[in-house]
Amino acid sequence: MTYPHVPYVPTPEHVVRKMLELAGAGPNDIVYDLGAGDGRIVIIAVREFNVKKAIGIEIRSDLVREARRKIKELNIEGRAEIRQEDMFKADISEATIVTLFLLTSVNEKLKPKLESELKPGTRVVSHEFQMPGWKPKIIATIHDGRVSHTIYLYVIGEHK
Ligand SMILES: C[S@@+](CC[C@H](N)C(=O)[O-])C[C@H]1O[C@@H](n2cnc3c(N)ncnc32)[C@H](O)[C@@H]1O
Repeated sequence: MTYPHVPYVPTPEHVVRKMLELAGAGPNDIVYDLGAGDGRIVIIAVREFNVKKAIGIEIRSDLVREARRKIKELNIEGRAEIRQEDMFKADISEATIVTLFLLTSVNEKLKPKLESELKPGTRVVSHEFQMPGWKPKIIATIHDGRVSHTIYLYVIGEHK
């Protein structure tokens, strides 16, 4: 199967914090960032939200290298990991929080995977793009000068 290309655009760090705050991230959580870019969500989840573990799934080797270098530098390799993998093939079943910054069309294609692998109560938090047809628990907008960011929070089991 082929999927639309999702370019690398990082989520601003204050928006990452808001995403993890809305998801209620804490010490019992295992965070998966699908399409992890430079690893910033994984890193902030571990360092600032003290999650048990954070895994980034990223397909581009240059970004994987960059994210792994930062994780090593910060000495958080025990709890932060980047896997070079296609997110559609990754096992995400242990996640309690999944973060996304993709495209609506890619979210649409991810829906069956998320619904079949994730446990009830798992939070799915998406920057900018909705999960078409799912019912968000929270929609938050952050105004950032002239730019605004929207965050959608879904809870598996309560999403329909
Ligand atoms: C918009 S960026 C978001 C990066 C990061 N999650 C953030 O919010 O800062 C999307 C990322 O998804 C990656 N990506 C696209 N398709 C992918 C796939 N099938 N599997 C894993 N990563 C993918 C891209 O290389 C890119 O780094």
